[in-house]
Amino acid sequence: MSETTDVKTVSDQGSGNIVFQNVSKTFRTPQKDVEALKDVDLTIESGDIFGIIGFSGAGKSTLLRMINALEKPSQGKVLVDGEDINALSAAALRKKRKNIGMIFQQFQLLESKTVYANVALPLKLNRVPEEQIRRRVEEVLEFVELTDKKNDYPSKLSGGQKQRVGIARALVSNPSILLSDESTSALDPKTTNAILQLLKRVNRELHITIVLITHEMHVIQSICNRVAVMEDGRIVEQGSALDVFSAPVQQITKNFVRTVINDSVPGLLVEGIRRETRNYRILRLKFLDTETTESVLAAVNKKFDVETNILFANISEIQEKILGIIIIQIIGSDEEIRKGLAYFEASRVGWQEIDLEDNVQKKEVIA
Ligand SMILES: Nc1ncnc2c1ncn2[C@@H]1O[C@H](COP(=O)(O)OP(=O)(O)OP(=O)(O)O)[C@@H](O)[C@H]1O
Ligand SMILES: [Mg+2]
Repeated sequence: MSETTDVKTVSDQGSGNIVFQNVSKTFRTPQKDVEALKDVDLTIESGDIFGIIGFSGAGKSTLLRMINALEKPSQGKVLVDGEDINALSAAALRKKRKNIGMIFQQFQLLESKTVYANVALPLKLNRVPEEQIRRRVEEVLEFVELTDKKNDYPSKLSGGQKQRVGIARALVSNPSILLSDESTSALDPKTTNAILQLLKRVNRELHITIVLITHEMHVIQSICNRVAVMEDGRIVEQGSALDVFSAPVQQITKNFVRTVINDSVPGLLVEGIRRETRNYRILRLKFLDTETTESVLAAVNKKFDVETNILFANISEIQEKILGIIIIQIIGSDEEIRKGLAYFEASRVGWQEIDLEDNVQKKEVIA
C-alpha cells in the first residue's frame, strides 16, 4: 500500500487523549450488585496503541465502553481530549462519538448490505452528501485493501476480510480514537497477524490512538506500546510494553508474560544441574537492546574463575526493541560469582536469582 493514500480528508476532531479519573462501575441487577470497575486511574496518550489485558469478566469491555459513553461511571470521570464525556449535551456527545470508531470480535456487519453499504452507513446516517460518501468509502476501502470486494455481501467474505470491513466502517468518519474489543479473537493466527499489522498502520499512518482489549499477550507484544493488566475490576499493573514484558511484577502479569516468553528451565536439564557438586547459582539475565549477549557471557567466563551454562534463552522483539531473557547456571566460588554479577551490572545486564525448584524469583537486584 502506498504511503500517499490520503484517507485523512476531514480535519482532526481531537488528538485522541483519554483519561480515567478514579472510575468505578457497579451494575445493579435484581440478584446482586456487580462491581465491574474499581477505582480505575488510567491515562492513554494521543498516539498510543494501548493494550488492556485480563481474563473473562475482568471488566475490560466495561472500561472500553466508557470511552464512548456506552457505559456511565457510577463514580469518577472519563475525559476524552480533556472533556468529561458524561457532561456533554446530546448533540455534543453525538459529535464526539463520530470521533471514536469501534471494532468488535463478531464484526457486527449488516448481512443484507454490501461491503460498500456497510462502510457507508455511518456517513449516510449523518446525511453526508452522496458524492462525498462515495469518495470517502473508496478511500477507506483502498486503505484496508478491499476495493475489489466493495459489491460483495459479508456472507461471501472470510473472517479477516469481514474485520477489514469493520475497520473501514470505523475509519470512515475519520476518528482520532479507535476502540477494539477482542477484534482478532475470532481469527486464525495468520489472519490475526495481518489485522494487527493493519491496526499498526491505522495508528502510524492515520495518527489514530488505539485502545485494544484482549486476553492474549501476543497481541500486546506485537503492536502495543503500553499495557494495563486488569483483574477483578482493577488495573493491577501498567507501564510500557517493554517494561511489563521484561520485569512483570504481579503474579497475573507474570503468567501472561509466560504465555509468550516461557522463561523456565527445561525439566530435562534439572537433574544435570542438581548433580553439580561445585558451588553454583541459577540466574535469570535480562538483555535490553544489546547485541552483546554472547560477549558479556564470554567475558564473564574469561575474566573470572566461573563457568556458565545456558539453561534457557529467548530473544523477542517488543516495541521494536530486542529483549533477551537468558537463564544460566553460574558455577564458582561465592567471591568469583559476586564479581561476575558486578560485571553484569556494569554491562547493564539485569539479573535476578531464581529458585530452580519452582522458578520463583528470590530477589530482584536490577529492574
Ligand atoms: N450490563 C450488565 N449488567 C450486569 N452485569 C454486567 C453488565 N455488563 C457487564 N457485567 C458484569 O461486569 C463484569 C465485567 O464484565 P466485562 O464484560 O467488562 O468483562 P470482560 O473483561 O470484557 O470479559 P470478557 O473477556 O468475557 O469479554 C462481569 O462480571 C460481567 O458479568
Ligand atoms: Mg469483554
